[in-house]
Amino acid sequence: MPSTPLIAPSILSADFSRLAEAVSLVEAAGADWIHIDVMDGHFVPNLTVGPPIVEAVRKVTTLPLDVHLMMTNPDAFIGEFADAGADVLTVHVEACSHLHRTLQSIKERNVKAGVTLNPATSVSTLEEVIHEADLILVMSVNPGFGGQTFIPACLEKISRIRQILNSGKNPGLLEVDGGINLHNAGSIIKAGADVLVSGSAIFGSDDFSITIQQMRTAGQTINV
Ligand code: DX5
Ligand code: ZN
Repeated sequence: MPSTPLIAPSILSADFSRLAEAVSLVEAAGADWIHIDVMDGHFVPNLTVGPPIVEAVRKVTTLPLDVHLMMTNPDAFIGEFADAGADVLTVHVEACSHLHRTLQSIKERNVKAGVTLNPATSVSTLEEVIHEADLILVMSVNPGFGGQTFIPACLEKISRIRQILNSGKNPGLLEVDGGINLHNAGSIIKAGADVLVSGSAIFGSDDFSITIQQMRTAGQTINV
């Protein structure tokens, strides 16, 4: 795992009428990835964006685009999202009947393949595919909306997945998404997160640069 986590601002909390500016601002403020939440109004009770917005964001940043597919049928859109410029495509365990095939299909397009679990979904559902995935995403809220409260029970889940990843020959990244702020980021990093997704805590702050920097270093303890 990286020594300090990567920070991936979620544009769900940005002003969509000024999306290019929002992406440029978080890039200048030190963001590592841009997290794009795709919601289909079926898998989750909200609708957001599709491949044209990923393509538009691709034109205004050089940062990796981390595309989180909250969709019932992600397989039907993997090609479109890859062509639009996604660097990471993350699918939900709960939405994929043939998860191994889905991960292969993402990787065949030279895109990093991520797998995510809702808060109520057991770590055991990852057992047969965890080492096929480039990234595991732990949802720390029930997906669908920004600005929700972090579910504390997810900390233990993060630790367990960290241990499993560390035991593999080629450990993937461990990402956490939902309700992350400057108060809980330290615990999440200490539990083993490599990538922190944050929407409202970054876009709702007065200074993106300070917030991103404080979030990144929140897991560091000062030895005196
Ligand atoms: C929730 C999304 C998250 C969301 C995070 O369904 O997957 O990426 O934007 O927003 P905050 O950080 O506000 O919880
Ligand atoms: Zn997300």
